[in-house]
Amino acid sequence: MKLEKKDILGIQDLSVGEINLILATAESFLEISTREIKKVPTLRGKTVINLFFEASTRTRTSFEIAGKRLSADTINISASTSSVVKGETLIDTARNLEAMNPDVIVIRHSAAGAPRLLASLIRQSIINAGDGAHEHPSQALLDMMTIKEKKGAIAGLKVAIIGDIAHSRVARSNIYGLTKMGASVALAGPATMMPRDIEQMGITVHNKMEEAISNADVVMMLRIQLERQKQNIFPSLREYSQHYCLNRRNIALAKKDAIVMHPGPINRGVEISPDIADDPDRSVILDQVNKGVAVRMALLYLLTGGSQ
Ligand code: CP
Repeated sequence: MKLEKKDILGIQDLSVGEINLILATAESFLEISTREIKKVPTLRGKTVINLFFEASTRTRTSFEIAGKRLSADTINISASTSSVVKGETLIDTARNLEAMNPDVIVIRHSAAGAPRLLASLIRQSIINAGDGAHEHPSQALLDMMTIKEKKGAIAGLKVAIIGDIAHSRVARSNIYGLTKMGASVALAGPATMMPRDIEQMGITVHNKMEEAISNADVVMMLRIQLERQKQNIFPSLREYSQHYCLNRRNIALAKKDAIVMHPGPINRGVEISPDIADDPDRSVILDQVNKGVAVRMALLYLLTGGSQ
C-alpha cells in the first residue's frame, strides 16, 4: 500500500487507514536501529532538508537520523544560521530551497499554518515538524506507536492529557489521532490553559487532574509552553505544580498498569516529579523518543513513493 499524499501537515488530514499504514511501516523499520550497521540503501539519491525556525532536540535529530539510516542526503538549516537573519522571508527561503531540488522539506515554525502555506507553493513534499500551537503530527504518530506497543491496541483505552492544552500542538495532534483510533481522551489543566469549545473535539474536560487521571490507561503530561503565552496565565510555577504535577499520590488514581508519557522536554518538578519521570515500571518517555526515529523513517519513505 502507498500513502497517497504529497505532504504530512497534520493528523486532522489523515484517515485511520493512513495512520495504520504509517504505524505499520514504522514498525517494519524499528529493527534497523538495532543493527550493528544501522543503514539501508532505501532512500539513496534522495535529499531531505530539515528547516527549523524553532529550537528542537528530539524532532530535528530524529528526522536527521531517520534520513541517514535510510541513506538519504540530509541537510539541516536553522533560522539563526540562515539568511532569515538577513531579512529573507519564509516563502523566499522555501523557493530557494525548492530550486535546489530536494525531495522532502521538514519544517518547524512558530506560525500555525506555515507548513501548509509552503505545501501549497512548492512542489516538494512538506512534513510539519510542529507549527505554533497547531499540530505536531510526527509526535502524535510516535505517541500512538508507543501506546500500541505497550497496550496492544489504542481503541477502548482512556488517555488523560494534562497541562497547557491551549498552547500544545502535541495535545491537538494527539486528540485528533487518539479519537480517530477509538480511544477516549480526558483533558485537565487550568481554565486559562484550556481552549474554549475544545469539547467539540469529542473529548471530556476536567478542571482537576485527579478526575482526568482516574482509571486512565495512559497519562500524558505536557510542558507549559511559556514561549507561546502572551501573558502570565497562572500565578507561579510552584502553584501550578501543586495542582498539575504528576506524582506518586495522583498516579495511584490511574489503572495499576497505566503508562506515563511526555513529549519532552520535561520540566522536572513542574509538570512531572522526577521519580515518576524515571519510574521504569510506568514511564515510557524514552520509548517515545526511540519510536520517533522509526516513525520519521516511515514518513520519509512513504512520501518518497515507498509502499508497505
Ligand atoms: N517533542 C518535541 O517536539 O521535542 P523537541 O522540541 O526537542 O523536538
